[in-house]
Amino acid sequence: MHSGQIILGIETSCDETSAALVADGREILANVISSQVNLHAIYGGVVPELASRRHVELIVPAVETAFKEAGLTFDDLSAIAVTPGPGLVGALLVGLSYAKAVALAQSLPLIGVHHTAAHIYSNVLVHPDLKPPFLSLVVSGGHTSLIHVHGHGQYELLGRTVDDAAGEAFDKIARALGLGYPGGPAIERLARSGNPDALPLPQAVVKDNPLDFSFSGLKTAVLNYLNTLRQRKQEPNKADVAASLQRAVVIALVERTLEAADITGLKKIVLAGGVAANGELREALRTAGAKRGLQVLVPPPILCTDNAAMVGCAGYWYLRQGLTAPLSLNAIANLPLGAELTWGKLGEK
Ligand code: KG4
Ligand code: ZN
Repeated sequence: MHSGQIILGIETSCDETSAALVADGREILANVISSQVNLHAIYGGVVPELASRRHVELIVPAVETAFKEAGLTFDDLSAIAVTPGPGLVGALLVGLSYAKAVALAQSLPLIGVHHTAAHIYSNVLVHPDLKPPFLSLVVSGGHTSLIHVHGHGQYELLGRTVDDAAGEAFDKIARALGLGYPGGPAIERLARSGNPDALPLPQAVVKDNPLDFSFSGLKTAVLNYLNTLRQRKQEPNKADVAASLQRAVVIALVERTLEAADITGLKKIVLAGGVAANGELREALRTAGAKRGLQVLVPPPILCTDNAAMVGCAGYWYLRQGLTAPLSLNAIANLPLGAELTWGKLGEK
């Protein structure tokens, strides 16, 4: 038996079925991540219907394993927190329906945690003293956003990608290079032996908002380069391509983040999302931040990619603020940040 508030976190937005038990928003009692990577790898990316079906198979065993690891039962829970979006809608519905069933059967509060917010809370999980306000850069396969976190559950979107996410650029180029899925880790490994200055790649500037990102031009430039070589029947130096791409993405991310820190005056920067596992990005942001007297926090790599512990952590802080959701909460593929917290209050979506 644990004396704190135990939240069951559920995450099924993409290709990881994850169930976690988190005590008081800081102690991970269990964080089961059933990856579907092998299922999708042969297709070079996530196949939505296969993902949904696999979530259906994995969700109950994942929760059972989590309870077993933690030595707890449903009766020990204070609430259940779940990702209602953004993500693949069929995949989200599996976790959401499961969470609603538990909330109903156990008479527990249901808490909806936006996927981007969940990533941010992976930092709160490992740095329990971290309190808003702070600036967060969330970079994953589906998102690239700069967010001013004013308070728990209070977000201001400062900038976002107008086209591809940073992780998507890694995944697409990795696919073109035949490196498999997911592409980010493969690009990082190859980049270690490559020359980051080998390919002159463009840095996009987005009109109207200096804090917005654009990665499609960069992706197209690399693809064009590969096509040109192919037409000439030449082999690309994959390590050079990987290193150049990684460097260009990291420069764009770090520059915008420092600019956002300047504009907002925020002194704490929190990095999150799958791409935050990237060593060059972590190092570059830490070094650039240190030069300007900014505190830069990054979660351990295992908490950067999708997991339910971050959902359980956010759930704890939301519960403390009374930010619970009605059972009418629905899954939304492109859920705007914050919409999950006003669900039902502004009329059904
Ligand atoms: O957060 P996440 O697990 O799922 C989404 O919410 O999208 O992020 C997955 C993304 C993928 O695009 C993957 O290639 C990228 O994160 N990624 C990395 C690394 N590890 C995962 N990108 C660069 N370097 C890495 N080490
Ligand atoms: Zn994610």
